[in-house]
Amino acid sequence: MDQTLQIGDTSFHVRIAGEGSPLVLVHGFPLDHHMWDAVFDSLAEQHQVIAIDLRGFGQSDGYREIVPMEMFADDIAAILDALEISEQITFAGLSMGGYIGWQMWQRHRDRLSRMILLDTRAIADDEVQSRARRIAAEAVLSAGMEDVPVNMLPKLLAESTRSEQPEVATALTEMILRQDPRGVAAAQRGMAQRPNVESWLNEITIATLVISGEHDVISPPEEMKGFAAKIPGAQFVEIPGAGHMVPMENPTALCEAVLPFCRDLE
Ligand code: MLT
Repeated sequence: MDQTLQIGDTSFHVRIAGEGSPLVLVHGFPLDHHMWDAVFDSLAEQHQVIAIDLRGFGQSDGYREIVPMEMFADDIAAILDALEISEQITFAGLSMGGYIGWQMWQRHRDRLSRMILLDTRAIADDEVQSRARRIAAEAVLSAGMEDVPVNMLPKLLAESTRSEQPEVATALTEMILRQDPRGVAAAQRGMAQRPNVESWLNEITIATLVISGEHDVISPPEEMKGFAAKIPGAQFVEIPGAGHMVPMENPTALCEAVLPFCRDLE
């Protein structure tokens, strides 16, 4: 179920289970494949699910000074090659995983049958945001991950999740603390230079599902609904009782949105 793939100088960790059409799960920042734990088994009842630890996160290495979203997308294509998966995949990416999804579409669209974009954005950072990311990258490299959860959790989880599901907050905190500052800094720098992809949206020809947590403050539902409307035929679903981390905060509703979307298109 857990596999290590050596690709060039990089060792990638992936968790694979189930049978059916391939569904690739790509985590957000600064996390790893465990953010899908609460939905993994249900999704694997219908799909061959492949949950990846991106370069520099979880148990994958391959540290660089900067990892652009394009490099993460190329890594995913290489992982599919290493796994000998030639069938087109459903790509599901959350937040940074969604930024990588745009690059999968741009660079590896022949590998995609459909795309699920969760709690993500189509616009780039403004000057202030990208500068803040570069400062944050330096901070984790010098001071480590210790301060990161306390700063990020209020933005990642809905208030109701933090009060009613403390175990979710604990799991998320531990996941963040486990990450290697080198991988975190490289991805921050990569996100700081990611492009605005709004002009790509009306050219997306594959079935697309856009999912937003009702209380997401990083990629708010109104913004996500706006870019979903520009993707021909895209479906938009708002998940109640969740912030930015929908698969952890409301896993049942997430599966109820994803599984029929995939099944209807079989
Ligand atoms: C994520 O969840 O991946 C991050 O919130 C993305 C970001 O910092 O823009």
